[in-house]
Amino acid sequence: MHLQVSKSKKLVGQIEVPGDKSISHRAVMLGSLATGVTKISNFLMGADCLSTIECFQAMGIEFVQEGNNTITVKGRGLHGLREPEDVLNVGNSGTTIRLMMGILAGQPFFSTVTGDGSIRKRPMGRVIEPLREMGASINGRQNGTLAPIAIQGRVLRPIKFVSAVASAQVKSAVLLAGLYANGQTTVWEPQKSRDHTERMLSYLGADIEVKDQVVKITGNPSLEGRPVEVPGDISSAAFFMVAAAIIPGSRLRINRVGINSTRTGIIDVLRSMGADLKILNEDIVNGEPVGDIVIQGGDLQGTVIEGSLIPRLIDEIPVITIAAAVAKGETIIRDAAELKVKETDRISTMAGELRKMGVEVKELKDGMIINGGSALTGTICESHGDHRVAMSMAIAGLVADGKTTVKNAECIDVSFPGFEKVLKELIK
Ligand code: S3P
Repeated sequence: MHLQVSKSKKLVGQIEVPGDKSISHRAVMLGSLATGVTKISNFLMGADCLSTIECFQAMGIEFVQEGNNTITVKGRGLHGLREPEDVLNVGNSGTTIRLMMGILAGQPFFSTVTGDGSIRKRPMGRVIEPLREMGASINGRQNGTLAPIAIQGRVLRPIKFVSAVASAQVKSAVLLAGLYANGQTTVWEPQKSRDHTERMLSYLGADIEVKDQVVKITGNPSLEGRPVEVPGDISSAAFFMVAAAIIPGSRLRINRVGINSTRTGIIDVLRSMGADLKILNEDIVNGEPVGDIVIQGGDLQGTVIEGSLIPRLIDEIPVITIAAAVAKGETIIRDAAELKVKETDRISTMAGELRKMGVEVKELKDGMIINGGSALTGTICESHGDHRVAMSMAIAGLVADGKTTVKNAECIDVSFPGFEKVLKELIK
C-alpha cells in the first residue's frame, strides 16, 4: 500500500488516537497472569498487540472481543499458562518478545520464540543475560543474542540487576521474571524509562516499590484481574501534534491521551521549539495519567534534545526530525544510540528519507544534526517497513511542495490502524 499526501493549508479538528501500545501489551500479559477477568477498553487493535494476544492464546488463555476495541482476558493466574505446541511468533513486536521472555523464563515448560526479519536482527542479549543470571536456560542464534530463542523455564532466583541501557523492555522482562523468583528482585536503570509495567503490576496487586531509577518486586504475588482503560497513545498523537505545530493556522485537540511523565518528552520538546500546547481535563485511569492535548500551529525554532529526555521521547524522534526540518536553525539530537536498534536504524533511515526531501542532515553515532528552515520538496519516500518512519514521512508530506508518496505504508497498522483516515479528516 502506498500513501499519498499533498502540501496542506492547515489541520483543524478534534480527534482521538488509538490506545497506547505499551499499555495494551501489558494489559494482555498481566491480565493473563492475574486470576479472574480483566476487561480492557480502548485496546490497540494494531498488529503488534494482536501478536501478543496470539502468543498468549497459544499458551491457553482465552480472549473475548466486544465491539471494536474492548477485549476481555480470562486470566488463569501466575501458574496457569500451558506449554505452547508450536513456535510463538511476535511478528514485528519488540515489546512482545522481550517482555514475554521474562514470563517464559519462569514457566515450568519449554518454549521457542521468533519474529519477522526486523525482530530477528534486534538485540536480545540485553534480556537473555539477566534472565540466565536468574537461573533460566535460554539460548538463541549467535550465542544467545538473536531470535529465534529457545527457553526452558524454571523457578528463578531473585537478582539485583544493573541495566546498561534505559530500556523499559529490559526492565520489564526482569520484573516479570521476578514474579517467579523467591524473594525480592531489584532493577536499576541509568535513566528512568517508561514505567507502565510497574504501574499496572501495582494496580493488579503486586508488591512493588519504585524510587527514582530503582524498582523492587517481590515474587509470587497474587494478581487480581481488574478493568483497564487504555489511554490514547501519545506516540501516535505525536504525529498529529507535530503536524499541527508545523503548519501555522492549525488548531487541533487530541482527547484522552496518556500523559505519564515517562512519555511526555515530546510535549517538552515542542514547547522548547516554541509551540503553543496546552493540556486540559487531566485525570487518572488505572494508575495512568490522561489529558486532552490542544495545540496550535506557529513558527518553531531548533532545539537540543539529549540526556534523560531521550528515553522520554525515544519513539517520537522520527517525527521530531520533521519538526526540526521545518524549524528555523539547528536541532541537535544526541545520546540516542538506541535509535539504531529500533524497528529500523532510525538514524540512518530518517536521515536518508529527509535528504530525499532536500533537508540538510548530519548523522552522528548517537543522533543527528538537522539544519531546518528550508523548503521541503515532495518526493517518493520509503517506509523501510518501519511504521514510525512511514507516518513521519506522511507528516513531512503535509509541508513539502507538491506531492509525497510513502511506499510500503501498510506497516502503519503495527501501531496506528486508521492513520490515513484520521489525517485526511483533519486536512482543511
Ligand atoms: C517499549 C519500550 C521502548 C520503546 C518501545 C516500547 C515498551 O523500547 O521504544 O516502542 O513498551 O516497553 P526499549 O525498551 O527498547 O527502549
